[in-house]
Amino acid sequence: MTTWPVAELHVHIEGTLEAELLVQLARRNDVTLPTTDPTELRRRYAFTDLQSFLDIYYANLTVLRTAQDFYDLGLGYLERAAAGGVRRAEIFFDPQVHINNGVPLDAVFDGLGGALRDGSSSTGVSAELIMCFMRDLGPEAARETLLAALPFREHFIGVGLDSAEVGHPAGLFRDVYQMAAAEGLHRVAHAGEEGGPDYVWEALDILGVERIDHGIRALEDPHLMVRLRDQRIPLTVCPLSNVCLKAVGRLADHPLPAMLDEGLLATINSDDPAYFGGYVDDNIAAVQRELGLDDELIATIATNSFRASFAGPAQRSLWIDEVRSTLAATQGATARAGSERT
Ligand code: HPA
Ligand code: ZN
Repeated sequence: MTTWPVAELHVHIEGTLEAELLVQLARRNDVTLPTTDPTELRRRYAFTDLQSFLDIYYANLTVLRTAQDFYDLGLGYLERAAAGGVRRAEIFFDPQVHINNGVPLDAVFDGLGGALRDGSSSTGVSAELIMCFMRDLGPEAARETLLAALPFREHFIGVGLDSAEVGHPAGLFRDVYQMAAAEGLHRVAHAGEEGGPDYVWEALDILGVERIDHGIRALEDPHLMVRLRDQRIPLTVCPLSNVCLKAVGRLADHPLPAMLDEGLLATINSDDPAYFGGYVDDNIAAVQRELGLDDELIATIATNSFRASFAGPAQRSLWIDEVRSTLAATQGATARAGSERT
């Protein structure tokens, strides 16, 4: 099985909180969980939609209290990501959850910042943070969060928009995205996960985002498809997440192949790997198996991920060369195996 070099552009650091670490942090911080058996905790991760996931996800985050907790979480993700082929990670975090849990913002930035510094040097993964606003808490709370985070400006490269989508359109966040742009921050937003194409249009036209997170429902609008294709707007697709949250019935029905056929700059990502059954390499393996994507298409997706990343052009082209040599090696190995059989 090939481990593909890839950029992960859609992963919530809070969604990498594995049940074992959850239990360990609950003990460390004297937080009571419904059970301390990781298998039993995972058994409860059976979701009917985005909100049913968010309810459990936010409840679990009460175990994160100190800079050390955030450090352990961040380092654990980078080590696992590196083993799965990740060369570049642009990692979401949700400061509003932690502020609302009484955690000072400097503990969040100290812990995650330290994890990225140490983890980048120990694993070789190039990593940056993108700060998300929770759309269900509204635009004024988002503005306050950005202002509170500006003293830590060097710790993050962009802003995003996540949490419950339907009923909370992107356009409400125009002013805070304008402030972020004025600070030189990159701008992305979740859109078209549960919400329809209108949510994607608003993210593009009103927020001026550079990437769309998810975006699977964009396929319902041919004009939107033209816009995404012509402007090369990347979509950070999360196949296992879409199945777990019932945005897609079965992986075999996932629109990823149609998105690639339409010439969209689609990438594969894990979203919340501790909850949805796997990291980015697991997502790649699953779509290869269930959707029959061949190695060339996976190489296209991996190349897309580096093109879509906010890393510098020289670094991106080195990674893209690496994808090319991985494809050549994989095809060579397949050809050798074929000739040995004949
Ligand atoms: N969608 C919206 N908000 C989220 C998600 C998601 O998939 N994961 C964590 N916060
Ligand atoms: Zn997400």
